[in-house]
Amino acid sequence: MKLQKLIKTAGRFAIVAGLLLAGGSAIAAVATTKHNLGSGGPGPNTFSGTAEICVFCHTPHGSDISASVPLWNRTLGGATYTTYDSLGTSSLDGATAPVGSVSIACLSCHDGTQAMDSVINAPNTGMTGTWTGADRPAGNALIGTDLQDDHPIGIQYGGGGITVNAKTGTLNDSDFVAPLNAPINGTTIWWVETGGNTSREKTDMQLYTRSVAGIDTGTAQPFVECASCHDPHTTNATFLRISNAGSAVCLACHTK
Ligand code: HEC
Ligand code: HEC
Ligand code: HEC
Ligand code: HEC
Repeated sequence: MKLQKLIKTAGRFAIVAGLLLAGGSAIAAVATTKHNLGSGGPGPNTFSGTAEICVFCHTPHGSDISASVPLWNRTLGGATYTTYDSLGTSSLDGATAPVGSVSIACLSCHDGTQAMDSVINAPNTGMTGTWTGADRPAGNALIGTDLQDDHPIGIQYGGGGITVNAKTGTLNDSDFVAPLNAPINGTTIWWVETGGNTSREKTDMQLYTRSVAGIDTGTAQPFVECASCHDPHTTNATFLRISNAGSAVCLACHTK
């Protein structure tokens, strides 16, 4: 084979290999992380009763709809939480919503109050087995029900000031990066950009649109929740949306 042709062929092979890798990694993402609790998971908590991965969090039918989270296969709202604002720091500007939205979904495992094989809709192949490791997160991964020692969640972004009626309004706390917004399914969704473009990606800090009695009167607005910083499906360390090298996660929102 002539050198030029060889280079061309090699180039083509590299592209195909690249595509295969890209496709493969999309499938492999959750499977290779601590969020694969099925029998094939890498640990530290795996359940012998099923090799399914998604079932510990999602079900195609009959999910819990008491919070806006996608097809959630776990019972939500069984625990009572102490939220960050009870700590009483004098610097907190934003109002705190009751624990809800995607945070209550994370906490349905991370508060440690219910076993992780306790799902609403078990797979048809059944769900009986034993745990390697504990049946709930332990150590640092156990967030618990006292959230005073955790970054605030269910907290208004930037001390409030932005709502569906003032999508690009002025934040009451000027120490925050202004979020971008887009209409999605009739709801305004906000996010804090990290890639320097204007489109919303999983690697942006997601804000969650909520309307909370006592905080607003039907004018929904952006809140920070667990999944603002974390993506439960990513292979990044500690499920962060972007690497926190140089405190990039913190500086995405905080102007400091
Ligand atoms: C450890 C819990 C957990 C597991 C396991 C899990 N998910 Fe999710 N998933 C979530 C949470 C939490 C959200 C909501 C994320 C958000 O609001 O940003 C979500 C959102 C989604 C979404 C909508 C948003 C998006 O990222 O596209 C899809 C689709 C999805 N999951 C599919 C899956 C599939 C398929 C699997 C199995 C291969 C899976 N998930 C496994 C927790 C999980
Ligand atoms: C079905 C149960 C379940 C749900 C739901 C769940 N997790 Fe987890 N998560 C786990 C388990 C189990 C671990 C591993 C615990 C350990 O390391 O001891 C874990 C680990 C983590 C870790 C630490 C990863 C590491 O590398 O040390 C983070 C961060 C995390 N989860 C965030 C979240 C967030 C954010 C959500 C919601 C978007 C969520 N989890 C939802 C079960 C769950
Ligand atoms: C403002 C951003 C942010 C929010 C909101 C947030 N986290 Fe984290 N979380 C982080 C960062 C950054 C780390 C990595 C800390 C480290 O590497 O030491 C982390 C680490 C973790 C860990 C690993 C254990 C540890 O302490 O290192 C778990 C589990 C976790 N988060 C779960 C959650 C859950 C559940 C929520 C919602 C109740 C949440 N996080 C909300 C930023 C956040
Ligand atoms: C998604 C946006 C976002 C990210 C990312 C983020 N924060 Fe925050 N943070 C907030 C909001 C909103 C508040 C509430 C501010 C208020 O109401 O005064 C807050 C509050 C705080 C507070 C002050 C709480 C108080 O009592 O006044 C500290 C400290 C803090 N964050 C540190 C961090 C650190 C450290 C990181 C990175 C690990 C981080 N934040 C990442 C949005 C974010």
